[in-house]
Amino acid sequence: MQLPLHGSNPQYLYQSLRVTMPDSFYDFSANINPLGPPAGLKEQWPSFFESILEYPDHENRELTELAASMEQVSEKSILFGNGGAELISLTARMLAGKNVLIIQPAFSEYAAACLANQCTITNYILKEPEWKLDVEGLLPLIKEQDALYLCTPNNPTGMSYAKEDVLQLLTACQKENCLVILDEAFYDFVIDPFTYRTYLSYFVNLIILRSMTKMFAMPGVRLGYVLAHPGIIDVLKSFKPHWSVSSLAQKAGSICLREVVHQQETVKYIEKQKRQLQFFYKTTGLVVSQSSVNFYLLRDPELDARHLLTYLLERGIVPRHTFNFPGLDGKWLRFAVKGEREHAVLMEEFTQWKKHRSTL
Ligand SMILES: Cc1ncc(COP(=O)(O)O)c(C=O)c1O
Repeated sequence: MQLPLHGSNPQYLYQSLRVTMPDSFYDFSANINPLGPPAGLKEQWPSFFESILEYPDHENRELTELAASMEQVSEKSILFGNGGAELISLTARMLAGKNVLIIQPAFSEYAAACLANQCTITNYILKEPEWKLDVEGLLPLIKEQDALYLCTPNNPTGMSYAKEDVLQLLTACQKENCLVILDEAFYDFVIDPFTYRTYLSYFVNLIILRSMTKMFAMPGVRLGYVLAHPGIIDVLKSFKPHWSVSSLAQKAGSICLREVVHQQETVKYIEKQKRQLQFFYKTTGLVVSQSSVNFYLLRDPELDARHLLTYLLERGIVPRHTFNFPGLDGKWLRFAVKGEREHAVLMEEFTQWKKHRSTL
């Protein structure tokens, strides 16, 4: 059986690796907010019930107005969709049959959506373990490309690319008429979040993707948006199913966008958890990526990651495998940052792993 393409739903990972799933487990494979959804969302959720009786507002007016004012862009520059994933599909639909460059390792849906739209894909693989954006290497390739996908902060490494490198790339792409789809699904997990949104007026070739899934811990709701020039928004809109954003998602989105304090508390919480983990990992000989967000890559330099993956799954620890990330090819495991209780279990398992490894 093929390994699952994404984190979450760990039963598929257990099945594909033929490891018996324990009765209880800790899922580190889905990188969503460990504090969960904002309290206000839970409180107000019952009041949304009546909204299922009507079709959703296909123009998504209320939420679009709110997001436009918060993002300080025109309402014509925003399009909401059924999660960031739908918006990735729409960008790929817009690029059907064209040449697309994907800066790897990166979220696997870019390639999946582009393949489904008969794009010709070139992968540019950055060198581990720095994964520095190699602008010099990329520049000669841009001429032949219609678009480029770049994810910063990056999933799966958790690292943010240097601003000057991203801007240099954007400038070169603008000159060559190459669209840049910049995925900021995790930008709000960084201390002092930085967004390229302010550059939208300089770069008409820039499309920014946002997901509301991660920060607001609502993968089951499905909500995300795109920020771009109104001309691009019109094209994306023309491919979007009429009611793809449910009334429940619209209501949830309006509440979550106002939850600035929840976001600030989340960032502080994650930083604290990461500090403790980093301190621990230094003592283990395990290598971890310099993540700026709520997940990180980890590798045991002495052994094939498959051993560690199986070992952890047997003990009810579920990491995200990396076999379907070009450039990682399964050598690393990705872990979400979670809470103290989960980390205590994780650290204990790694301590045991160290002892186990020395017997192999
Ligand atoms: C980088 C990145 N972009 C977009 C998405 C899609 O997010 P959503 O759940 O909102 O569809 C994900 C989901 O994992 C992601 O990691």
